Amino acid sequence: MRLPNINFTDEQIRLQGVAHDIARKYLLPQASEHDKNHSFNEDGFKAVCDEGLLGIWIPKAYGGSENGVLGLALVVEELSKADPAFGVAFAVNALGSFPIIVGGTEEQKQKYLPLVATGKASCAFALSEKFAGSDAGGLSVRATKVDGGWRINGEKKWTTNASRANIIICFAVSNPESRSRRISAFVVEDTDEGFSIAKVEDKMGIRSVPVCETAFDGVFLPDDRLIGGKPGLGFKHSMMTLDLARPGVAAQAVGTAAGALELANTYANRRKQFGQNIASFQMVQSMLADMAMKTEAARWLVFACASAADAGDMKVVNKYAAMAKCFATDVAVHVATDAVQIFGGYGFMEDYPIAKFYRDAKILQIYEGTNQVQRLVIARNLMKESGTYDYLNEVIPRETQSTHGGDYEIANS
Ligand code: CAA
Repeated sequence: MRLPNINFTDEQIRLQGVAHDIARKYLLPQASEHDKNHSFNEDGFKAVCDEGLLGIWIPKAYGGSENGVLGLALVVEELSKADPAFGVAFAVNALGSFPIIVGGTEEQKQKYLPLVATGKASCAFALSEKFAGSDAGGLSVRATKVDGGWRINGEKKWTTNASRANIIICFAVSNPESRSRRISAFVVEDTDEGFSIAKVEDKMGIRSVPVCETAFDGVFLPDDRLIGGKPGLGFKHSMMTLDLARPGVAAQAVGTAAGALELANTYANRRKQFGQNIASFQMVQSMLADMAMKTEAARWLVFACASAADAGDMKVVNKYAAMAKCFATDVAVHVATDAVQIFGGYGFMEDYPIAKFYRDAKILQIYEGTNQVQRLVIARNLMKESGTYDYLNEVIPRETQSTHGGDYEIANS
């Protein structure tokens, strides 16, 4: 297996520091209020736009700063440490612009990416539907070819950031007869006639970022809105996008875990019971030590995955992205849960941010591919890899090897 080289550039470290300062100034003090009011942190968003953070993953040729998926991960972790909901509000712009980066025509890249990089346009990624979540190939939203373009009809579900987005990447069935070329991806603009927000969801966590049902009622899109200019590439583009975006969710999870750990560690070293800080009790120490170990392990898995993505090693990235997303998000839920436990009764109250970390963490195991889907992707990769270990045939029982394509039996009989 090729090991990804993890190298942080000076600019990536600087951007991490910028994100840290923004998080302290605009996110930490406002997170609770925006959560309670279901309102968007416009001050925080203006700050990330002003500092050029939205251009991190976008190539220089299209107005970005080209600091890659690793730069994205560093920044998302810092933002999420203060407010996990803001972390996704930021990272969804990567999810929504990656389809253009990986599959768009030159004209599409020139038209849309500079708008994203400068924060002039926000993005959403409309893949999931009521009856097509994990089964992303089972979509029902239809794209029908008409004179000069396409008409889109149907509804999407759980579209993060949809009511704020100017660019909505919509995946729709353009050829129902085809198995492998069924789906195409389109750029829908918020001003397109027939596009509307059907419902803004009421959620358990990440309440300050809108998640919506979106309706496409005969939306006409000219031919140049078809991503890549050719129909049938949508499923591939969605999978390639998710491979690049999952490190971002994983970084959001690392930030969530790190933020909850900092709070729990601070509290445990101040809170006195039985005449001493609770951090002096071994059972609390054990919890804190596990939380710290897991958070650190998740962080470096995310860096490894992001570095492989930036090196363009996409075969490795598919497995790494699934591992990083699954591991880091499971860690976030575990760490946030134990952090609430350390806070005891105070942890259950909404007076303090720790309860929000717990609520915000749960969705991480669900969106951008459930952790069951991630484990399936990892297992599929392992099954493929097993075919490359023929040098081990000598050291596993011979009689079982007819199930491995039978080649070994024939070659050695
Ligand atoms: N890169 C490129 N191509 C890929 C690919 C990848 N990573 N993965 C699959 N493909 C290609 C395959 O090569 C295959 O191509 P051919 O037909 O030409 O052979 C095709 O796509 C079909 O692949 P599979 O047979 O593997 O597809 P599948 O139906 O078995 O599905 C799956 C696989 C992994 C379960 C996939 O459906 C999946 O990832 N599901 C989860 C979807 C998801 O993450 N949804 C979340 C949406 S975003 C969100 O959460 C909302 C938000 O706003 C935050």
